[in-house]
Amino acid sequence: MAYGPDQILEGAGNTDYERYIRTNELLSLQKGPDTWKHRDELLFTVVHQTSELWLKHCTAEAIEAVEYLKKDEIRPALRLFPRMFLAVKYCHEALDMLEQMSPWDYQQVRRALGHGSGFDSPGMNSIRKAIPSLGVEFKRLLAKENLDLVQLFVRHTEFEDLYLLAEALVELDERMYLWRHRHFKVVERSIGLKVSGTQGTPVEILARLNSFTFFPELWDARTDLTNYAIAEEGEN
Ligand code: HEM
Repeated sequence: MAYGPDQILEGAGNTDYERYIRTNELLSLQKGPDTWKHRDELLFTVVHQTSELWLKHCTAEAIEAVEYLKKDEIRPALRLFPRMFLAVKYCHEALDMLEQMSPWDYQQVRRALGHGSGFDSPGMNSIRKAIPSLGVEFKRLLAKENLDLVQLFVRHTEFEDLYLLAEALVELDERMYLWRHRHFKVVERSIGLKVSGTQGTPVEILARLNSFTFFPELWDARTDLTNYAIAEEGEN
Protein backbone atom coordinates (compact mmCIF):
# COMPACT_ATOMS: atom_id res chain seq x y z
CA MET A 1 0.00 0.00 0.00
CA ALA A 2 1.38 3.45 -0.84
CA TYR A 3 1.44 5.87 2.05
CA GLY A 4 1.43 9.64 1.85
CA PRO A 5 4.65 11.59 2.13
CA ASP A 6 3.75 12.44 5.71
CA GLN A 7 4.75 9.02 7.03
CA ILE A 8 8.44 8.80 7.82
CA LEU A 9 8.54 6.06 10.48
CA GLU A 10 8.88 2.33 9.90
CA GLY A 11 6.35 -0.07 11.38
CA ALA A 12 2.76 -1.27 11.29
CA GLY A 13 0.00 1.32 10.85
CA ASN A 14 -1.13 3.86 8.27
CA THR A 15 0.18 6.94 10.02
CA ASP A 16 3.28 7.82 12.00
CA TYR A 17 1.00 8.24 15.02
CA GLU A 18 -0.16 4.62 14.71
CA ARG A 19 3.37 3.42 14.08
CA TYR A 20 4.97 5.29 16.98
CA ILE A 21 2.25 4.60 19.55
CA ARG A 22 1.87 1.09 18.12
CA THR A 23 -1.91 1.44 18.26
CA ASN A 24 -2.51 -1.71 16.16
CA GLU A 25 -0.80 -3.87 18.77
CA LEU A 26 -2.16 -1.90 21.71
CA LEU A 27 -5.79 -2.03 20.58
CA SER A 28 -5.58 -5.72 19.81
CA LEU A 29 -4.67 -6.49 23.44
CA GLN A 30 -8.32 -6.58 24.55
CA LYS A 31 -10.67 -9.47 23.85
CA GLY A 32 -13.51 -8.69 21.43
CA PRO A 33 -17.26 -9.43 21.67
CA ASP A 34 -16.75 -12.80 19.96
CA THR A 35 -14.83 -14.15 22.99
CA TRP A 36 -16.38 -12.16 25.85
CA LYS A 37 -18.15 -14.01 28.64
CA HIS A 38 -19.63 -10.59 29.45
CA ARG A 39 -19.32 -7.18 27.77
CA ASP A 40 -17.84 -5.66 30.96
CA GLU A 41 -14.67 -7.64 30.30
CA LEU A 42 -13.65 -4.63 28.20
CA LEU A 43 -14.09 -2.23 31.14
CA PHE A 44 -12.29 -4.62 33.49
CA THR A 45 -9.39 -5.17 31.08
CA VAL A 46 -8.93 -1.49 30.25
CA VAL A 47 -8.74 -0.54 33.95
CA HIS A 48 -6.17 -3.26 34.64
CA GLN A 49 -4.07 -2.69 31.53
CA THR A 50 -3.90 1.09 32.05
CA SER A 51 -3.03 0.54 35.73
CA GLU A 52 -0.21 -1.81 34.71
CA LEU A 53 1.13 0.85 32.33
CA TRP A 54 1.05 3.62 34.93
CA LEU A 55 2.74 1.34 37.46
CA LYS A 56 5.40 0.47 34.88
CA HIS A 57 6.02 4.20 34.42
CA CYS A 58 5.99 4.80 38.18
CA THR A 59 8.58 2.05 38.72
CA ALA A 60 10.86 3.47 36.00
CA GLU A 61 10.77 6.88 37.72
CA ALA A 62 11.44 5.32 41.13
CA ILE A 63 14.45 3.39 39.80
CA GLU A 64 15.82 6.56 38.20
CA ALA A 65 15.31 8.48 41.45
CA VAL A 66 17.25 5.80 43.35
CA GLU A 67 20.13 6.22 40.88
CA TYR A 68 20.23 9.99 41.55
CA LEU A 69 20.09 9.48 45.31
CA LYS A 70 22.97 6.99 45.16
CA LYS A 71 25.02 9.86 43.70
CA ASP A 72 23.79 12.18 46.52
CA GLU A 73 21.79 14.16 43.93
CA ILE A 74 18.57 14.87 45.81
CA ARG A 75 17.20 17.69 43.63
CA PRO A 76 16.86 15.74 40.36
CA ALA A 77 15.36 12.82 42.31
CA LEU A 78 12.77 15.16 43.83
CA ARG A 79 11.62 16.19 40.35
CA LEU A 80 10.59 12.59 39.64
CA PHE A 81 8.35 12.13 42.67
CA PRO A 82 5.31 14.06 41.37
CA ARG A 83 5.31 11.67 38.39
CA MET A 84 5.13 8.73 40.78
CA PHE A 85 2.33 10.41 42.78
CA LEU A 86 0.30 11.04 39.63
CA ALA A 87 0.77 7.48 38.36
CA VAL A 88 -0.56 6.04 41.63
CA LYS A 89 -3.37 8.62 41.62
CA TYR A 90 -4.43 7.58 38.11
CA CYS A 91 -4.57 3.93 39.27
CA HIS A 92 -6.60 5.04 42.28
CA GLU A 93 -9.06 7.03 40.16
CA ALA A 94 -9.39 4.22 37.62
CA LEU A 95 -10.91 2.07 40.39
CA ASP A 96 -14.04 4.27 40.18
CA MET A 97 -14.78 2.77 36.77
CA LEU A 98 -14.97 -0.75 38.23
CA GLU A 99 -17.89 0.29 40.41
CA GLN A 100 -19.85 0.95 37.24
CA MET A 101 -20.13 -2.85 36.95
CA SER A 102 -23.02 -4.40 38.84
CA PRO A 103 -21.91 -7.10 41.31
CA TRP A 104 -23.84 -9.68 39.30
CA ASP A 105 -22.26 -8.63 35.99
CA TYR A 106 -18.84 -8.85 37.66
CA GLN A 107 -19.61 -12.46 38.59
CA GLN A 108 -19.86 -13.16 34.84
CA VAL A 109 -16.56 -11.34 34.15
CA ARG A 110 -14.94 -13.28 37.00
CA ARG A 111 -15.62 -16.55 35.20
CA ALA A 112 -13.16 -15.47 32.51
CA LEU A 113 -10.27 -14.76 34.90
CA GLY A 114 -9.03 -18.28 35.63
CA HIS A 115 -6.66 -18.03 38.60
CA GLY A 116 -5.74 -14.47 37.66
CA SER A 117 -5.13 -12.45 40.83
CA GLY A 118 -3.89 -8.98 41.69
CA PHE A 119 -1.22 -10.66 43.81
CA ASP A 120 0.49 -11.38 40.47
CA SER A 121 0.28 -7.80 39.15
CA PRO A 122 3.73 -7.11 37.61
CA GLY A 123 3.22 -3.36 38.01
CA MET A 124 2.27 -3.49 41.67
CA ASN A 125 5.00 -6.02 42.45
CA SER A 126 7.68 -3.96 40.73
CA ILE A 127 6.73 -0.68 42.43
CA ARG A 128 6.60 -2.49 45.79
CA LYS A 129 10.15 -3.65 45.17
CA ALA A 130 11.39 -0.21 44.07
CA ILE A 131 9.93 1.93 46.89
CA PRO A 132 12.04 0.42 49.73
CA SER A 133 15.23 1.23 47.75
CA LEU A 134 14.24 4.91 47.92
CA GLY A 135 14.02 4.52 51.70
CA VAL A 136 17.46 2.89 51.88
CA GLU A 137 19.03 5.87 50.11
CA PHE A 138 17.13 8.35 52.28
CA LYS A 139 18.44 6.68 55.46
CA ARG A 140 21.98 6.73 54.09
CA LEU A 141 21.73 10.46 53.34
CA LEU A 142 20.26 11.14 56.78
CA ALA A 143 23.13 9.27 58.46
CA LYS A 144 25.60 11.19 56.33
CA GLU A 145 24.29 14.45 57.87
CA ASN A 146 24.43 12.89 61.36
CA LEU A 147 20.74 13.59 61.85
CA ASP A 148 17.84 11.71 63.35
CA LEU A 149 14.34 12.23 61.99
CA VAL A 150 13.20 14.58 64.75
CA GLN A 151 16.19 16.84 64.14
CA LEU A 152 15.54 16.75 60.40
CA PHE A 153 11.97 17.99 60.98
CA VAL A 154 12.99 20.58 63.55
CA ARG A 155 15.81 21.92 61.35
CA HIS A 156 13.96 21.43 58.05
CA THR A 157 14.93 24.79 56.58
CA GLU A 158 18.63 23.99 57.10
CA PHE A 159 18.30 20.61 55.35
CA GLU A 160 15.66 21.60 52.81
CA ASP A 161 16.35 18.94 50.14
CA LEU A 162 16.60 16.08 52.60
CA TYR A 163 13.44 17.25 54.36
CA LEU A 164 11.57 17.45 51.03
CA LEU A 165 12.77 13.93 50.26
CA ALA A 166 11.36 12.69 53.61
CA GLU A 167 8.02 14.31 52.78
CA ALA A 168 8.04 12.88 49.25
CA LEU A 169 8.51 9.38 50.69
CA VAL A 170 5.62 9.94 53.08
CA GLU A 171 3.43 11.16 50.25
CA LEU A 172 4.25 8.14 48.08
CA ASP A 173 3.55 5.84 51.04
CA GLU A 174 0.24 7.64 51.68
CA ARG A 175 -0.86 7.41 48.05
CA MET A 176 -0.10 3.67 47.96
CA TYR A 177 -2.06 3.30 51.21
CA LEU A 178 -5.00 5.21 49.74
CA TRP A 179 -4.98 2.98 46.63
CA ARG A 180 -4.98 -0.14 48.86
CA HIS A 181 -7.93 1.10 50.91
CA ARG A 182 -9.87 2.15 47.84
CA HIS A 183 -9.19 -1.25 46.22
CA PHE A 184 -10.38 -2.94 49.43
CA LYS A 185 -13.72 -1.13 49.20
CA VAL A 186 -14.06 -1.95 45.48
CA VAL A 187 -13.49 -5.63 46.32
CA GLU A 188 -16.03 -5.51 49.15
CA ARG A 189 -18.58 -3.80 46.91
CA SER A 190 -18.00 -6.24 44.03
CA ILE A 191 -17.70 -9.67 45.67
CA GLY A 192 -17.88 -9.17 49.44
CA LEU A 193 -15.21 -9.96 52.03
CA LYS A 194 -16.26 -13.35 53.40
CA VAL A 195 -15.35 -15.23 50.21
CA SER A 196 -12.23 -16.60 48.53
CA GLY A 197 -10.31 -14.94 45.69
CA THR A 198 -9.48 -16.46 42.31
CA GLN A 199 -6.47 -18.26 43.82
CA GLY A 200 -8.42 -19.58 46.78
CA THR A 201 -7.04 -17.09 49.35
CA PRO A 202 -9.62 -15.61 51.73
CA VAL A 203 -10.41 -12.04 50.67
CA GLU A 204 -10.28 -10.99 54.34
CA ILE A 205 -6.48 -11.18 53.98
CA LEU A 206 -6.73 -7.79 52.26
CA ALA A 207 -7.91 -6.24 55.52
CA ARG A 208 -4.58 -7.19 57.11
CA LEU A 209 -2.65 -5.58 54.25
CA ASN A 210 -4.53 -2.33 54.91
CA SER A 211 -2.29 -1.47 57.84
CA PHE A 212 0.91 -1.94 55.80
CA THR A 213 3.23 1.03 55.45
CA PHE A 214 6.57 1.31 53.61
CA PHE A 215 8.14 3.80 55.99
CA PRO A 216 6.77 3.29 59.53
CA GLU A 217 9.66 5.27 61.00
CA LEU A 218 8.66 8.36 59.01
CA TRP A 219 5.15 8.13 60.46
CA ASP A 220 6.41 7.40 63.99
CA ALA A 221 8.61 10.48 63.70
CA ARG A 222 5.43 12.61 63.90
CA THR A 223 4.70 11.20 67.36
CA ASP A 224 8.33 11.71 68.38
CA LEU A 225 8.11 15.28 67.15
CA THR A 226 4.97 15.94 69.21
CA ASN A 227 6.66 14.50 72.30
CA TYR A 228 9.78 16.54 71.57
CA ALA A 229 7.67 19.71 71.37
CA ILE A 230 5.93 18.86 74.68
CA ALA A 231 9.28 18.20 76.38
CA GLU A 232 10.72 21.43 74.99
CA GLU A 233 7.72 23.40 76.28
CA GLY A 234 8.16 21.78 79.72
CA GLU A 235 11.73 23.05 79.84
CA ASN A 236 10.64 26.66 79.31
C1 HEM B 1 -13.59 -5.40 40.34
C2 HEM B 1 -12.32 -5.14 40.53
C3 HEM B 1 -11.41 -5.93 41.41
C4 HEM B 1 -11.70 -6.97 42.23
C5 HEM B 1 -13.05 -7.61 42.52
C6 HEM B 1 -10.44 -7.38 42.83
C7 HEM B 1 -10.33 -8.42 43.71
C8 HEM B 1 -9.20 -8.75 44.39
C9 HEM B 1 -9.11 -9.81 45.37
C10 HEM B 1 -10.24 -10.73 45.76
C11 HEM B 1 -7.85 -9.82 45.83
C12 HEM B 1 -7.27 -10.77 46.90
C13 HEM B 1 -6.33 -11.74 46.27
C14 HEM B 1 -7.02 -12.72 45.40
O1 HEM B 1 -7.64 -13.62 45.93
O2 HEM B 1 -6.95 -12.56 44.18
C15 HEM B 1 -7.12 -8.77 45.13
C16 HEM B 1 -5.81 -8.45 45.34
C17 HEM B 1 -5.12 -7.51 44.61
N1 HEM B 1 -5.60 -6.76 43.57
FE1 HEM B 1 -7.50 -6.65 42.99
N2 HEM B 1 -9.43 -6.57 42.37
C18 HEM B 1 -9.97 -5.68 41.49
C19 HEM B 1 -9.27 -4.70 40.79
C20 HEM B 1 -7.92 -4.51 40.83
C21 HEM B 1 -7.19 -3.56 40.04
C22 HEM B 1 -7.75 -2.60 39.01
C23 HEM B 1 -5.88 -3.70 40.36
C24 HEM B 1 -4.76 -2.89 39.76
C25 HEM B 1 -3.61 -3.38 39.44
C26 HEM B 1 -5.79 -4.71 41.39
C27 HEM B 1 -4.64 -5.14 42.02
C28 HEM B 1 -4.59 -6.00 43.08
C29 HEM B 1 -3.39 -6.23 43.87
C30 HEM B 1 -2.03 -5.58 43.66
C31 HEM B 1 -3.72 -7.18 44.83
C32 HEM B 1 -2.80 -7.76 45.92
C33 HEM B 1 -3.19 -7.23 47.27
C34 HEM B 1 -2.86 -5.77 47.51
O3 HEM B 1 -1.83 -5.31 47.05
O4 HEM B 1 -3.65 -5.05 48.17
N3 HEM B 1 -7.04 -5.19 41.64
N4 HEM B 1 -7.98 -8.14 44.28
